[in-house]
Amino acid sequence: MPVKGLKDNAIKTSIETLNACLADLVALGLALKQAHWNVKGRNFIGIHELFDAVYARVADGVDVVAERVQILGGAALGTVEVVSGAAKMKAYPTNVVEDLKHVEEVSKRLADVGERVRKSIEVISEAGDEGTVDVLVGLSRQLDKDLWFVESHLGK
Ligand SMILES: [Fe+2]
Repeated sequence: MPVKGLKDNAIKTSIETLNACLADLVALGLALKQAHWNVKGRNFIGIHELFDAVYARVADGVDVVAERVQILGGAALGTVEVVSGAAKMKAYPTNVVEDLKHVEEVSKRLADVGERVRKSIEVISEAGDEGTVDVLVGLSRQLDKDLWFVESHLGK
């Protein structure tokens, strides 16, 4: 039995928008692992561990978003094939080594995905699904905080 009291249009908008966020978040999680594994440099241990901590929070976000899709009666789309076609996040480079270069690349993507989550909040709010807005607001706040944690290594 799906939820009651939400317009069909709101549910449709939420499911589509959540699946777009899901694709971006899965891509962001993989980028964070790529950075976590490959990073080298003077700030190695702090940055290596931070990338994994951010990955864990993004993975929690993926789960909450995917389960919200199910709660609304949709199908969560998280396979590698769907994600690679649907993610708007720019592909993460595979040839980066230096710690501060990884910090830059990860920061760009945290900011970028964070911006799209913020836009998604607007779209879903206009559609009238406040429960989904709440899910994405928490996620947006976490992405903002993790951007701060990562970007602060650049000293700006
Ligand atoms: Fe690890």
